[in-house]
Amino acid sequence: MSFKKHEAHIDLVTCIDNPAFKDVDGEGDGSAAKTSDDDHAGEEKQESAAAEEYTQIKPYAGMPKEVLLLYSSQARYRVPREILFWLTVACTLAIVALTITVIAVSPRCLSWWQLSPVYQVYPRSFKDSDGDGVGDLKGIQEQLAHFEFLNIKSVWISPFYRSPMRDFGYDVEDFRAIDPLFGTMRDFEELLAEMHNKGLKLIMDFIPNHTSDRHRWFNMSRMRDPHYEDYYVWTDCNATAPRPNNWVSVFGNSSWTFDEVRGQCYLHQFLKEQPDLNFRNPHVRQEMTDIIHFWLDKGVDGFRMDAVKHILEAAHLRDEPQVDPNKPPEMITSEWDLHHDYTTSQLGLHDLLRHWRAEMDGYSREPGRYRFMVTESYDYHEVEKTMMYYGTPLVKESDFPFNFYLLDLPQNSSGLWVQHLVHLWMANMPKGRWPNWVVGNHDRPRIASSVGQAYIRVLNMLLLTLPGTPTTYYGEEIGMENINITDSQIQDPAGKHNASASRDPQRSPMQWSGDMNAGFSSNKTNSTWLPVHSDYRRVNVEVQKKDEDSVLSQYRFLNALRQSELALQRGWFCYVRADASVFSFLRELDGLDRAFLMVLNFGKEAAVTDLSSIPELPDQLTVLMSTNHVSDGKVLQKSHIPTEAGEGLVIQYSISTRFNPTHSEQCYVSEKACYIRVVDILYKC
Ligand code: GLC
Ligand code: MG
Repeated sequence: MSFKKHEAHIDLVTCIDNPAFKDVDGEGDGSAAKTSDDDHAGEEKQESAAAEEYTQIKPYAGMPKEVLLLYSSQARYRVPREILFWLTVACTLAIVALTITVIAVSPRCLSWWQLSPVYQVYPRSFKDSDGDGVGDLKGIQEQLAHFEFLNIKSVWISPFYRSPMRDFGYDVEDFRAIDPLFGTMRDFEELLAEMHNKGLKLIMDFIPNHTSDRHRWFNMSRMRDPHYEDYYVWTDCNATAPRPNNWVSVFGNSSWTFDEVRGQCYLHQFLKEQPDLNFRNPHVRQEMTDIIHFWLDKGVDGFRMDAVKHILEAAHLRDEPQVDPNKPPEMITSEWDLHHDYTTSQLGLHDLLRHWRAEMDGYSREPGRYRFMVTESYDYHEVEKTMMYYGTPLVKESDFPFNFYLLDLPQNSSGLWVQHLVHLWMANMPKGRWPNWVVGNHDRPRIASSVGQAYIRVLNMLLLTLPGTPTTYYGEEIGMENINITDSQIQDPAGKHNASASRDPQRSPMQWSGDMNAGFSSNKTNSTWLPVHSDYRRVNVEVQKKDEDSVLSQYRFLNALRQSELALQRGWFCYVRADASVFSFLRELDGLDRAFLMVLNFGKEAAVTDLSSIPELPDQLTVLMSTNHVSDGKVLQKSHIPTEAGEGLVIQYSISTRFNPTHSEQCYVSEKACYIRVVDILYKC
């Protein structure tokens, strides 16, 4: 066997015949490795001849290491190899740098609680699945399609804990159990699983301030069990005139009640059946934190923290200053009679909330599993107290505290008033935080009744086009109104104390259809826990779904628009005009040429708005949507924008010059972001 000199091509057989193909250890069984004893003498000679031949062989696939080494150092192989090596290094570095840059310049993605309105379900009144006249968890599950239809993702369900129902669930007997009226723990788990399957988030109430007087802790406490003795706020008092100080309950009268078992008074900032927990006791703090864990472990997506400003009271129990110092002390019976220096917003409150926030953060790390916190605190004129619940740039607290200022809207119907209320929040909110808007809940009269049915559409338009998260109390999407309640029909304990303070009118059953009980309950005796509103044949989901001009259809359209338009989701919000009738504002995003102008008439009369002094607006404006429908698609001159009383317009327009750069004092944005059309991305700018 020999190599043929000068042969240009060596085929595979030849390669295998190549003596160098032999295993290094000489253990290979290729034919080249097979040597007979007879051949042995000529072997060395042959190998040296072969080595000389290697230099004549061109490189080929599968060549032995010796051949490879011969060629690999030649410039024509080495140079491309090095070039490729450095190119790989450069590309890797470029990718790393690009990734870091993209992360650094990308604005934060909006979280689920920012993308959808928060819809409040009052479980007694939403849907009754078993015909007992009271809504329940299975009923809510039956109606999940309603949220999908509305494109709502976040649902807050008012309390469904085990409760004697003195305050309809806000008096909790067992924080780890479901009240049988609403169903079972299995019903809850099924509801949550089904909501998650549908991409819906469940927010539940967390009620830290008090328990029911039927709670096991309270029984142990009144019996002075050593562990539970200080779980509540007790003090000595006189059994016949129990009033250790002048503090009053939110529901009226003294906030102290004498307990015969213990022979002392206990504090209750709400009903006497709702004793206040003593948060100065570390065991109480731990118990409540454990309850948060219990529900987070079950998978709930967030908490609405109830009545937070009442959580702590001053330990010294001194009298609170009277609003009217001349009023006789025995006449001090209402919360409005006192300045609540010692019973609300006490030092240490925010530490507690921040601690709970941190616990919730521990559950928020998986993508899409952020746990949301909203706090409830009515601070009226002390807006700065409310803003504290946003936390600080370094220490997080709630994602937002409820903004109750729009609840004052019925006091005065004018564009200026609406702007004033909106501005109360925008001007006081800490920089970079996310606003929210409430026009109704289970504690306040329905907005459609208090401002009038004529304004419900323009109100929904306001909520769904303002920046931030709107909340929708069940029924607002169809324009439900308060029911009239006779004194004998009163269910609410607050109403039993003072009929005009009853919250029953806004808690009537949801109006699903024109059927019996408005489709809320199949109860044959026609009795639901509160009467159904008499307008239910006209105002109901089924009827309004079929009517593209209905309150419901408009709500749905606006919500879809809000979720599909970047400018409405996260763009600038700028005041444009406010007068006795109209509140007008725009939403725009830098880099995006599509912007929106809202002209909302909250006044009592029709108006014509002239925006010709605003050069950033095009001369002609096309109405995308009007609450009066007939104006849809109309082309208006910007100098002449007519609106009826209660009419709202959404105008979509194209811009080349944006409004915000030259009117920064009129504009607000949570987090600045600019859009690049060619690559369809947002960046921090
Ligand atoms: C909150 C609830 C209210 C309840 C009170 C006491 O304000 O919204 O309904 O009565 O707390 O828990
Ligand atoms: Mg039921």
